[in-house]
Amino acid sequence: MRRKLFVTTALPYANAPFHIGHMMEYIQADIWVRFQRMQGHEVHFVCADDAHGAPIMIAAEKAGKTPQAFVAEIAAGRKPYLDGFHIGFDNWHSTDGPENHELAQDIYRALRKQGLIAERTIEQFFDPVKSMFLPDRYIKGECPKCGAKDQYGDSCEVCGAVYSPTELKNPYSALSGATPVLKSSAHHFFQLSSQRCIDFLQQWTATPGRLQPEVLNKIREWFAADDAGHVTLADWDISRDAPYFGIRIPDTEDKYFYVWLDAPVGYLASLKNYFGKIGKDVETFLADPAVEQVHFIGKDIAYFHTLFWPAMLHFSGRKTPDKVYVHGFITLGGDKMSKSRGTGLSPLKYLEVGLNAEWLRYYIAAKLNARVEDIDFNPEDFIARINSDLVGKYINIASRAAGFLAKRFGGKLSGDLGVEGRALLDGLRNASAGIRELYEEREFGKALREVMLLADRVNEYVDRHKPWELAKQQGMDAALHDVCSTCIEAFRLLTVYLKPVMPALAAQVEAFLKVEPLEWHDATRALGAHTIGPYQHLMQRVDPKQVDALFEAPAAATPTPGGEPLAAEIGIDDFAKVDLRLAKIVNAEHVEGSDKLLRLTLDVGEGRHRNVFSGIKSAYKPEDLIGKMTVMVANLAPRKMKFGVSEGMVLAASHADEKAHSGLYVLEPWPGAVPGLRVR
Ligand code: MSP
Ligand code: ZN
Repeated sequence: MRRKLFVTTALPYANAPFHIGHMMEYIQADIWVRFQRMQGHEVHFVCADDAHGAPIMIAAEKAGKTPQAFVAEIAAGRKPYLDGFHIGFDNWHSTDGPENHELAQDIYRALRKQGLIAERTIEQFFDPVKSMFLPDRYIKGECPKCGAKDQYGDSCEVCGAVYSPTELKNPYSALSGATPVLKSSAHHFFQLSSQRCIDFLQQWTATPGRLQPEVLNKIREWFAADDAGHVTLADWDISRDAPYFGIRIPDTEDKYFYVWLDAPVGYLASLKNYFGKIGKDVETFLADPAVEQVHFIGKDIAYFHTLFWPAMLHFSGRKTPDKVYVHGFITLGGDKMSKSRGTGLSPLKYLEVGLNAEWLRYYIAAKLNARVEDIDFNPEDFIARINSDLVGKYINIASRAAGFLAKRFGGKLSGDLGVEGRALLDGLRNASAGIRELYEEREFGKALREVMLLADRVNEYVDRHKPWELAKQQGMDAALHDVCSTCIEAFRLLTVYLKPVMPALAAQVEAFLKVEPLEWHDATRALGAHTIGPYQHLMQRVDPKQVDALFEAPAAATPTPGGEPLAAEIGIDDFAKVDLRLAKIVNAEHVEGSDKLLRLTLDVGEGRHRNVFSGIKSAYKPEDLIGKMTVMVANLAPRKMKFGVSEGMVLAASHADEKAHSGLYVLEPWPGAVPGLRVR
């Protein structure tokens, strides 16, 4: 049966270029899509820029551009990433396109007709200078719990308290600095708390096979019980007041849809825009019950896709998603690359330093499974997997056999491969169904492990038959021919299995083997006495220097704080080795014959005093130091100097280039600290 698939990835905010997290999502979805296409299924794979919302409007204003021009510039930079990593979207659109305006308004009208839109007046902070209501993120002030300054309107980064912006003390607008005033305004709500919505969503989310088990568990937490013990959801505020970059709410003058209302509608808008180009009718397509609608998304936006989005679609009389496939985040050396700090591994720099895009596709695929787990990019692991698996096991098979075939047999494969060769190839062909199943389930890591086990078998076969020795022996031509032909046929089968992950490499292999573009069913066929082309090297090994270059800080672009690049990363254990203590400077004096040093007498709460020489004479007079507290390294090995033994080191900050920047600053703890306390 030929499936009809409508596949999307999340629509990225159009306020920044792609980071590695975006590429990981596209690579996951693209592999699945290519796999489905190889099955002969009909697949429409689309995405778009998520153009609307307050952050983009504000960023555009800061850049001195209209929001339209601002997002157009971001959109114009997408292509090198998508082409560079072989992401085969059929269409790329924008949520600010006319299709989306129309569709979002249609859906809203349908929900209103269903009686699911309520209007309520709410009070919110308003910036009197900017003349706009402030999103929570743009209101700052003092934490109502701990008093910490400059905290956001939703939670305190110091004590972790969660509150509403109106609870902040001395609030101010992060946009203008003005004190916000409370102002009321009518908002539109999607009544998710209605029994109809709750009933539908409980049934929809629990439909077997639709959501991953861990996603379903999260959803169960989101269905909160109210006072009477009924399961409920909060109504969803879907309107924002002008000025706002978004889609106007029908029958209002100055109200816009909250960005998350029109963002997922962008999936349909992009499909519609695409179908317009290829002359296909989108309504007919989506009305077809055979169509499967599949969304690939990250774990941070599951709420929107498993509650709001299906409810919007269902109650506006539309098809709901068949699958929402949620993935975890990609981290770099264990460090989270969040939206705001997604710069750890620059995808474009990856390409610029000459790293092969398909290495990253392979590496990410090898780490992915069907669960909502984070995956880590580890440079050493990356190099090892490419060099030993991909090149060492797979590419090696072709390079070991192709030379002999060309030189001795004019590139013509042997039609009959011998018992052992046939048995080996049968084994490889029989693995097809299992590997197909793993790809279908997004168990890419397991699928690639299977493929590498098959490659191991082929290499064992080569090692047993030693074509390089057969080639030297008299009368072994037929055996050499069979072994090399078996290798090439095995290589072709493995290429079928790897093609969803490495489409460009597969195309090179197809050219080399002189075969039509490989489909999945080609794994169950045999090439027979076919003539292949000359072998040219298919894939290099990773040069660790390229990986170093990827993570090297560009000389000018990365600011070096204090004129000095950061030292190599250390673990907490390394830091714990340094015993820092608070010390009281009980005496300070000049040192005869030194124009740099002061002699300090320090009390570290040990019942004795320490003698420390410190190079701070240029910045401090001894009398200004006496009686002050400071920080010292207390477990530094004593050092014998010209003027006596120094038993530790006092901490001071300075610029890397001390000649050009004279400042030198001894550290001093806040009031109340006593000698001997450890700094940790
Ligand atoms: N604009 C919304 C999505 C609207 S969908 C109708 C958005 N955009 S985003 O640019 O912030 O994120 C786009 C996708 O990238 C999301 O699926 C998100 O989970 C994913 N990722 C962002 N950082 C990521 C990682 N570090 N790792 C993997 N994916 C992550 O959210
Ligand atoms: Zn606090």
